[in-house]
Formats: sequence, structure tokens, C-alpha cells
Amino acid sequence: MRLAKGDLAIAGVLAVVCVCVASAVMVVVVDGANGDGPVTQLSNGFTAKHSPDASAPFEPVLYATNGAFAFGFLRVGAASLDLAVVHLASSFPLWRATPARVGDWSRAATLTFDGSLVLTGADDGVLWQTLNIVGDTVALLNSSNLVVRRFVKTRPAWQSFDNPSDTLVLDQNFTVSSPPLISANRRFALRLAKTYMSLHMEFYGGRTTPMYWQHTALEAQPENATQPPVYGRLDGRGFFGLYLQGGGEKVDVLSFDTFVQNLTGAFRRMTLEDDGNLRAYYWTDDVKVWTSDYKTISAPCELPTTCGAYGLCVPGGGGAKCQCLTNSTSTSPPCSPEETTDLCGGGDNNVGQVFDEVRLKRVSVAYKERLPFETNTTAEQCEQACAGNCSCWGAVHNGASGYCYLIDFPVETMVYEADEQKVGYFKVRRPQSSTRSSGMSRGAKAVTAVLSLILASLAVAGAYIGYRLWQRRRQRRRRAGYPGMEQELTSSGPYKDLKSMGSSNDSFKS
Ligand SMILES: *[C@@H]1O[C@H](CO)[C@@H](O)[C@H](O)[C@H]1NC(C)=O
Ligand SMILES: *[C@@H]1O[C@H](CO)[C@@H](O)[C@H](O)[C@H]1NC(C)=O
Ligand SMILES: *[C@@H]1O[C@H](CO)[C@@H](O)[C@H](O)[C@H]1NC(C)=O
Ligand SMILES: *[C@@H]1O[C@H](CO)[C@@H](O)[C@H](O)[C@H]1NC(C)=O
Ligand SMILES: *[C@@H]1O[C@H](CO)[C@@H](O)[C@H](O)[C@H]1NC(C)=O
Ligand SMILES: *[C@@H]1O[C@H](CO)[C@@H](O)[C@H](O)[C@H]1NC(C)=O
Ligand SMILES: *[C@@H]1O[C@H](CO)[C@@H](O)[C@H](O)[C@H]1NC(C)=O
Repeated sequence: MRLAKGDLAIAGVLAVVCVCVASAVMVVVVDGANGDGPVTQLSNGFTAKHSPDASAPFEPVLYATNGAFAFGFLRVGAASLDLAVVHLASSFPLWRATPARVGDWSRAATLTFDGSLVLTGADDGVLWQTLNIVGDTVALLNSSNLVVRRFVKTRPAWQSFDNPSDTLVLDQNFTVSSPPLISANRRFALRLAKTYMSLHMEFYGGRTTPMYWQHTALEAQPENATQPPVYGRLDGRGFFGLYLQGGGEKVDVLSFDTFVQNLTGAFRRMTLEDDGNLRAYYWTDDVKVWTSDYKTISAPCELPTTCGAYGLCVPGGGGAKCQCLTNSTSTSPPCSPEETTDLCGGGDNNVGQVFDEVRLKRVSVAYKERLPFETNTTAEQCEQACAGNCSCWGAVHNGASGYCYLIDFPVETMVYEADEQKVGYFKVRRPQSSTRSSGMSRGAKAVTAVLSLILASLAVAGAYIGYRLWQRRRQRRRRAGYPGMEQELTSSGPYKDLKSMGSSNDSFKS
């Protein structure tokens, strides 16, 4: 239904009040459903509904018998809906379904189990499901593994451990056939190849995936064709082990700071984070915080996007300072918007070159060993190798060695190096006529912001009257609902520690 203008203020008030009351309602519903205790198994025919009124950011439907984990509806960011397995003590989502089309928290959704798990959105469209399987029960194991089982089989028909999102936990096998770990902001991936693991940036929707870190299993033999591939597993003793499939022979370990401490009883996870770093953490019930005891990349300037697109990272004092490669108006990130397409298309209305060129001294790139290169070149030859190729965005040249490294993906953060002979050449997309429309969208954002402010003020001022009104209109509200309003007013909820869709790169600003 459409709201008349005069009803907007009242609707805002109602939304606020309804959020406060909904949390009480939620508890009742869960208790009622649980009967004698928490639900630890789902059977065929199970259905759970997400209510658009829900105020708690996580609505559990299934618990592990150790009480440490639960599976249910999770609010992600301000207003998206996903299914997740959550570590209850920390509210950290260890696994997420991450459907291609995300759900909307402020609309209804349904989770059903009828042979397979299915998440259905408000428009009856399937958002996510466990494909090509038939199961009889769903359980959440003490390890946090969500499993769909057949009565007669011991091996699960489907398990969340085989479909990781951004996190691995204790005893979860990460194999060459596992999908990659993808950071919550979907910009980075951890992949496992036959003998090595590697970190990648994801560009153009995953079509270009340049590598920025690689670790080859020490005792694996890449040239031995009969040797089986490796798989990785987080070990409770404080390391990530790489083993040969089949025999299980250990071929390498990445050991954590706590490896020497004999730390027992800790729960561990390894997460690919939004800054592109892979970090390990442990949790103990006495300390009750996630403590990091491992990270793959230790220097902030060696992370690929510390200063954003076209940023220049200046190392020093254990931290990093950000500048811009180009003279843009801002001197700190973001220097430039992220590029989503290459420079090859758009030749229809040939108005000339689509990019400007920037040349800088004392610049290098942290992961140059992973880039395509040419040897025995001059700075001019290096520049030429990039300039005429529309899939090349930049090149860095080392005058002392003659090496030329080509950046065949959008330019991210470069690193300052105090060496005159290290020079860089970068292409910067020329602003198109679309600048006007982006200005207008900024205007639209401002209007939205002002509107929300007014709404919020009205809501606070009228809260008391609103409560009375709400009591009287309760029945009508139940029938109509006010989609969109709750989302507007609760976007800064108490669940800040959950990962949002945004990037956390700002933590390196100094
Ligand atoms: C899971 O943990 C609970 C409580 O710690 C324990 O009673 C139960 O036996 C465990 N289940 C399995 C399969 O180990
Ligand atoms: C992990 O791999 C080992 C060895 O192949 C196997 O015994 C174990 O069952 C696997 N764990 C899971 C959860 O699949
Ligand atoms: C290749 O790997 C297999 C299995 O690990 C091993 O038995 C064999 O000796 C290896 N061959 C060589 C030439 O190293
Ligand atoms: C670690 O624990 C094992 C068995 O629990 C014990 O044998 C060993 O001595 C311990 N090591 C240290 C350094 O405490
Ligand atoms: C940036 O601006 C400064 C002064 O305004 C100028 O000296 C410098 O050459 C410019 N750098 C680039 C890359 O355009
Ligand atoms: C490097 O290039 C120069 C001229 O371009 C050539 O004379 C020389 O032989 C090359 N050296 C090597 C090692 O390829
Ligand atoms: C352009 O660069 C891409 C990526 O580095 C490379 O694969 C391709 O061969 C280059 N094309 C030409 C014409 O040099």
C-alpha cells in the first residue's frame, strides 16, 4: 500500500515503537517453538518465517547441542537478509549462505526443509537452496558444521564445511574442490591449487583475479604428476596444516603465535577479511574476545588496497600513510572510485583516448613477483608495452635491473620506495559526460539524508503519543505493515561487530 504524506510521521513513530516491542515478541516466539529446550534437529516439513518486524539482528532456528552455535536468519549490513551459522558468544557469522541475490531484511522470508534447505524471499522467489540433494534431517554439529543427512548414510548429503564463505574453523577441510574463500566485501579470494594456496583480488565480477600472495607447500613436489593434491585444515594446536589427499601426509604448516603455548580448549577460526588479509583468531571462554595469532601479510603497505584505488602507501613506523598517485582533490583515500570495467570497450563514439597518463618516480608495487614482466627494458620501452594495450592499466619499471612489471587490472594501492630509478606509468580514466548524473545522485542522497533526519526527529518527539496511537492501531498495523520504514530507522542497530558489506580499509589511515 501507499502511504499518504500526512501518515509518514505517524508511520515513523510506529516503526520505532514496533521495533522496541518486537524484541519482546521474538523471545516469546522462540521459547514457544522450542518446547523443552533448544531445537537441535530439523525434519522434513520444517518451516520458519522471518518477520519484517524482527528487531534482533539474528533469528536462530537451530542450535548445536553444545550451545555454542546457532543457524538462522541474519541481518547483514543495514538491511540485507542472509542465512548464517553464528558463534553465539561473539555474534560472529562463521558461515553464510551468501546468495547471488540478497534478501531484504525489511520484508518477509521463509526457510523450509523438504529434502533440501530453501530460502524464499517475499516475492516467492528462491534466494538460496542446497542444490541436487535429498536429505531427511538437518543438524548443527558441535564443530559448527551444518549438515543435511539421510537416515541410512553416515556421510552428509550436504555440509556447510564444503561451502565456506569467508571463514574456516577447526577441523574443516579446505580442498582443491572447495569453492574459494571470499571476503565479505567480495573483493578478495583464497584459493587452493594442487600444491599451493594463494590470495587473489577479484575484478570485473571475478573474470580477472590477479594473485598477490602465494604459499607453496614445503614438501609437496609440484613436478610430480602422481602426487595427490594438498588440502588444508586448521588445527587446535595452533597451526594451519597442509596435507596430501588420501594418505594425509603432512607437507607443510603455517604456525601461529600460540603454537608453542599448548593452548587447549580454544576455538579457532581463519578469516579472509575485507582488507585482503587472511588472519587466524582464537576464542577462549575466560577471555571472551577474538585474539589474532596469525596474519599472512604483516606490513599494511603490502596489502593490495590499503590506500584504495590510485593510492600511494608510504611505509613507516609499523603503520602506513596514504597519498594519491594523481592530484585528485582528496589527499587521503579514496583517491579514485573503483573501476569495474577495463579500458577496451566504449569505442563506439570515438572521441579519442579514454584515459590520461600519470608518471611518477619512487613508486613500486608490493606483489610485483606475481605480475607479468619483461626484462632488459628501458623506462620508455616499459611504458610502451602498457600504453598501447587496452587491458593494461599501468607499469612499474626498475631502472637498476631493467625489469618492467605490467599491471593488467585496475590500479590499486602502489608503494612508495625511496629509489629514483623506480618509476611508474599509470592510466587514469577520463571523466565521461556521466559526471553530471553522479552529481545529481549526490543531490538525491542529500535529500534522502535530510528526509531521514526529519523523520527521526519526528519519531523521537512523538514517541510517547506514538505509543498510544500504536496501541489503538495495532490491529490495522498488523494487516498493512510499513515496508521500508524500519530499515530506514534502525540501520545503526546494536550489531556493529558483525561484518558489514563495506570495506574496513580505513583502519590504516594515519
Ligand atoms: C556436543 O556437545 C555436547 C555438550 O558439550 C555433548 O553433550 C555432546 O555429546 C556433543 N556431541 C557430539 C556428537 O560430540
Ligand atoms: C576431513 O578430511 C579427513 C581426511 O581426509 C577426513 O577423515 C574427515 O572426515 C574430513 N572432515 C570433514 C568434516 O569432512
Ligand atoms: C611422486 O609422488 C608419489 C606419491 O606421493 C610418490 O610415491 C613418488 O615416489 C613420487 N615420485 C617422485 C619421482 O618423487
Ligand atoms: C603440552 O601438552 C602436552 C600434553 O598435553 C605435554 O606433554 C607437553 O609437555 C606440553 N608442553 C608444554 C611446553 O607445556
Ligand atoms: C601534483 O601537483 C603538484 C603541485 O600542485 C605538482 O608539482 C605535481 O607535479 C603534480 N603531480 C602530478 C602527478 O600531477
Ligand atoms: C638488452 O637489450 C639490448 C638492446 O635493446 C641488447 O643489445 C642486449 O643484448 C640485451 N641484453 C640481454 C641480456 O638480453
Ligand atoms: C595485452 O595485455 C594482456 C595482459 O597482459 C596480454 O595477455 C596481451 O597479450 C596483450 N596484448 C598485446 C597485443 O600485447
